[in-house]
Amino acid sequence: MAYQDKNLNYIDAEAYDKRGESSVLENYVLELWQPFLKEKIKKLSAGKTVVDWGCGTCEYASAAAEAAAEKIYAVDDSEPMLKVCREKLAGFENKEIILGSGFHNGIPAGAADLVLTIGVWEYAEPRPLVGEIKRLTEKGAKIVVVFPNIYNKLNTERSIWRKKRIALRPGFIKNIFKNDFTLVESASFGMVSWCPKKFQSLILPLWKLGDFIWKPFQKFMPLGINVYYLFERK
Ligand SMILES: C[S@@+](CC[C@H](N)C(=O)[O-])C[C@H]1O[C@@H](n2cnc3c(N)ncnc32)[C@H](O)[C@@H]1O
Repeated sequence: MAYQDKNLNYIDAEAYDKRGESSVLENYVLELWQPFLKEKIKKLSAGKTVVDWGCGTCEYASAAAEAAAEKIYAVDDSEPMLKVCREKLAGFENKEIILGSGFHNGIPAGAADLVLTIGVWEYAEPRPLVGEIKRLTEKGAKIVVVFPNIYNKLNTERSIWRKKRIALRPGFIKNIFKNDFTLVESASFGMVSWCPKKFQSLILPLWKLGDFIWKPFQKFMPLGINVYYLFERK
């Protein structure tokens, strides 16, 4: 089921959280990156103030809550997504869930020890987004960046549609952080391969083999569907 309308607004949070069920390959990639990211976020969140920018259903903010973050700000401009986010964070006291643009969010300057920007780079203009991350952070703060690779067919299509193809180049994203941030680590998830749904189970072992072979080179030339960077504010 579609979780976005034709203008790419997020309209169905439940379908978004179940997106792995619609494709064997998407499920494979999700299983690679969600546990990886949640583990990273847990390690970085304990006792920290976390901003989840474009939080969606707060799958990742929940990992920060589980790790006993000091405070969580979760901001998103989709009410259907935030409805599920509120449910997921119900047991976590010190939070502000903000409906609206991530660029006018009311979060105090310098408040964040950790900023999560997962799956938002293909929607927001990258330079203003980096500017907002700078506003939210001070020296030593960490930033998790996950964006669709240029080799990700689905997101390339979305980006061309929105004329944002350049945002998807790993080198471009790394570069716009260069002056104010240090790259701490990087990874990428899942080689790109698209085929009709009924053949996906047959393709999966091949794709897994491709991932395995390419793993040592992913750092230098990320062929994955999604690229991950962890930056630190200089
Ligand atoms: C692909 S989803 C990612 C959600 C979540 N970060 C995750 O990884 O599961 C993108 C989210 O960014 C939100 N979004 C896009 N542009 C935004 C903006 N300018 N301000 C606030 N939220 C935005 C969308 O509403 C959507 O929930």
